[in-house]
Amino acid sequence: MTILRSRIIGLGSFLPERVSTNDDMAKIVETSDEWIVTRTGIRQRHFAAEGVSSSDMAVKAAEEALKAAGVKGEDLDLIVLATVTPDKTFPATAVYVQAALGMTHGCAFDVVAACSGFLYALRAADNMIRLGQVKTALVIGVETLSRITDFTDRNTCVLFGDGAGCAVLRAEECDGSLADRGVIDTLIYSDGRYAPELCSTGGPSTNHEVGYITMNGREVFRHAAVNMADVSEEILAKNGVSMEQVDWLVPHQANIRILEATAKRLGIPMEKVISTVGDHANTSAASIPLALAESYKSGKIKEGQLLLLPGMGAGFTWGAGLIRL
Ligand code: ACO
Repeated sequence: MTILRSRIIGLGSFLPERVSTNDDMAKIVETSDEWIVTRTGIRQRHFAAEGVSSSDMAVKAAEEALKAAGVKGEDLDLIVLATVTPDKTFPATAVYVQAALGMTHGCAFDVVAACSGFLYALRAADNMIRLGQVKTALVIGVETLSRITDFTDRNTCVLFGDGAGCAVLRAEECDGSLADRGVIDTLIYSDGRYAPELCSTGGPSTNHEVGYITMNGREVFRHAAVNMADVSEEILAKNGVSMEQVDWLVPHQANIRILEATAKRLGIPMEKVISTVGDHANTSAASIPLALAESYKSGKIKEGQLLLLPGMGAGFTWGAGLIRL
C-alpha cells in the first residue's frame, strides 16, 4: 500500500551574532560560570540585537532551509511557526515570514506550545501532508526569549537564549515501512494543571502586559526527564522500533542534566544524544530544529539515519517525533 509521508528536504538555522558567556551573566546577576555549568551545562547563549524580531530570525533560517531544499518561497503551501515570543500579539508571526518569503497562496499560522512547540508544529504540518491537503510545508521553531527574560532574576535569566531552526517538508509517496525517509510518527500531549509551574507573568487578557518567564525549576526538572523518556518509549513501541535502532536522540535542549536523566531512563548512551545546550542554552521552540540543523550541517547527523526527537515544556506540554532523515 502506498501512503504519503513528509520527507525532510531542507534544514536551516539562525543564531544571532551577539554571544553572552556565563562570565557576562555574572556581571548582571549574582552567579558564576561554575554554578551555571555544573547545574545546567550551559556555557553561553546568543541574544538578538535590538530591533531584530522573531520573524527576522525565522526568515534567515527559512532562507537557508529553502536553499538547501531547492524550493522557492512561492512554492510553499503551508507555514507552521512555533513560538512564545511572537513579533506582535497578533497577527501570527508566521504571516510576516510568509510575506518575506514571497508566498502568496496557502496558509501560515502559529502554534504556542513553548519548548514542545516544534513537535506540535511538525505534527500539524505532517498530518496535513498525510491527508493530501498540502504538498510543501515549512515548519519553524523560533524564539527571542531575551525579550521576556527578567535579567534581575538569576533563577531564570542564565537559562535562556535566542535563535531559530526550521525544516522544509515535502509530500512523498512511500510504502509505509520503517525504511521510508520522512516523518514516521509524532505524538503530542499536554496537562494544563501544571501551567503555573512555568509561565509568563503577563498576557493581553490578564494584565495587558507581555510579562516575564517565571518557573518552578525543581518541578519542571522532575517532570521533564520522565515525560520525555515515557513519550519516547511510547512512540518507539507504537512503531515497533527498539532503542538500539535509533541513531540519534535529538531532545529539547533545556539542561544537560535533563538530557542525561532522559538518556539514562531510556538506556541510550550519551554518545548518541545530540547536545547543543552548552552553546545555545534553552531556546524553547527553536531548540530541537536548531540542534537538528546544526548537527546535520556539521556532518554528525546523516541522511537516512533514524532520529528520535522528544520535548517537554510549559503547559506542561510534551511530545516526540520519530524521523528517518
Ligand atoms: N547562580 C547562582 N545561584 C543560583 C542561580 C544562579 N544563576 N539560580 C539559582 N541559584 C540559587 C538559588 O537561589 C538557591 O539558593 P538558596 O538555596 O540560597 O535558595 C540555590 O541556587 C539552589 O537552588 P536549587 O533550586 O536547589 O538548584 P537546582 O539544583 O534545582 O538547579 C535549576 C536549579 C538549574 C533551575 C534546576 O532546577 C533545573 O534545571 N530545572 C529545570 C529548569 C529548566 O530547565 N527550565 C527550562 C524551561 S522548561 C524546559 O525547557 C523543559
